Amino acid sequence: MEIYADYAATTPVKPEVIDVMTKMYQTHYGNPSSIHTIGRDARKYLDQSRRQIAQILGAKPNEIIFTSGATESNNTAIKGIVKANEQLGNHIITSKIEHHSVLHVFEQLEKEGYDVTYLDVDDTGAIDLDQLAETINDQTILVSIMFVNNEVGTVQQIYDIEDIIADTHAFFHVDAVQAIGHLDIKFEDFNIDAMSITAHKFGGPKGVGALLIKDHLPIDFMQLGGEQEFKRRAGTENLPQIVGMAKALELADENRDNNNLHLMNLKEQFLVKLQERAIPFELNGSMTSSTGHIVNLYFPFIEVETMLTLLDLAHIYVSSGSACTAGSTQPSHVLAAMYEDEERAHHSIRFSFNELTTEDDINNIVAEIHKIYFKFKEES
Ligand SMILES: Cc1ncc(COP(=O)(O)O)c(C=O)c1O
Repeated sequence: MEIYADYAATTPVKPEVIDVMTKMYQTHYGNPSSIHTIGRDARKYLDQSRRQIAQILGAKPNEIIFTSGATESNNTAIKGIVKANEQLGNHIITSKIEHHSVLHVFEQLEKEGYDVTYLDVDDTGAIDLDQLAETINDQTILVSIMFVNNEVGTVQQIYDIEDIIADTHAFFHVDAVQAIGHLDIKFEDFNIDAMSITAHKFGGPKGVGALLIKDHLPIDFMQLGGEQEFKRRAGTENLPQIVGMAKALELADENRDNNNLHLMNLKEQFLVKLQERAIPFELNGSMTSSTGHIVNLYFPFIEVETMLTLLDLAHIYVSSGSACTAGSTQPSHVLAAMYEDEERAHHSIRFSFNELTTEDDINNIVAEIHKIYFKFKEES
C-alpha cells in the first residue's frame, strides 16, 4: 500500500495531458516564432491553448502571459508592478501567510527601502480586513494576497479585499495557485489586476504557469530578449507544456463540481474517523471557508518530523506545510501567524487530497495515525 496525500505540493500529470504533450514533442515541435509551415503549425497550438485557458478563466487571450510557473509569475507581478509605478508611492501590502515566492520578494523590496505591511491573520487563516483598511493609503502601490492558502486551505474573501482596495489607486495581485480546479474563478468578474497560476497543481506538468494581467496594468517586464508573449516575456515558449497546461485546466474545470463534492466528503470522513478513534487533534484553519483538498491537523502528542518519518515508513506521503520549507527545521510561517502557541507549528501535518484519493486511503491513513498514537501513548 502506498498513499500519496501531498497533492497541494504537486499532482501527477494526467494521462490525457501526457498524450497531448507527447504529440507536441513528436509532431508539432516547431518554434512558434518561426515563419515557415512547421513554425506556423506550432503557433496555431500556442494560440489555441491561450484561447482555451483564457476562455476557462474568463480572461482575454492577450491578458495571458505564459511563464515557467507561479514563482516566476509572482516575482514578475510584484516586482514589475512596483517598479513601473514607483511614482505612486512607497508602500506595499501583503499577508504573513503568503507563499515564499511572494514573501521573499516583499522582503527584498523592503531591503530596497519600500515600506511593507505584512497583514495579520486570525486563527482560521483569514486576513485582517480592518488592518488592510487602516493601513492602505495614498502611497500604497500594490496589495498581494493569495486566494487559497497552500498550507491550511483557507479561502480569502477576495471581493471584500477588492472593495477596500477600490477606494485607492493600489493595484491588486492574487496568487491563485491553490484555487485553480477548486473554485470557479473568472478573471473578468474580479477587480484583480494580476493573477498567478501554475499547471502542476491541477494535473499538468511542472515548470509551466501563467500570469494573467489586465490590459490597463502598468508593469515592467524583467526578462529581455525576443518578442514572445506580446513582447512581455522573452524566450521561446515551452509549447508542449503550455498545451499540457491547457488540457489539464480543461479537465480540472470539467470535473470541478464532482471533485469538490468528493474532496469535501473525504475531508469530513477523515475528521469524523479520527474522532471516532479518539485520536487527539485539532483542525488548523477553517472548516467552512476552505477548499476540500487541504486538511492541516495539529496532533499534540507527536513532533511533526517524527510523524512524517513514521508515516513515510508506512508508505503514506504527506508534508509539514509548503514543500519549500520541508526538510528545514523552521516551523511553518503560516501556522506561526495563525496561532500564538509556537509549539503548534511543531506538531502539525498537512494532508492534501485530489480526485485520485479514495475512502480506503482515508481509512488507511486514520488506522496508521491510530497505531502511532497508541505507540506514543504507551511509551509516555
Ligand atoms: C500558493 C503557491 N504559490 C506559489 C507556488 C509556486 O509555484 P511553482 O512551483 O509553479 O513555482 C506554490 C507551489 O508550491 C504555491 O502553493
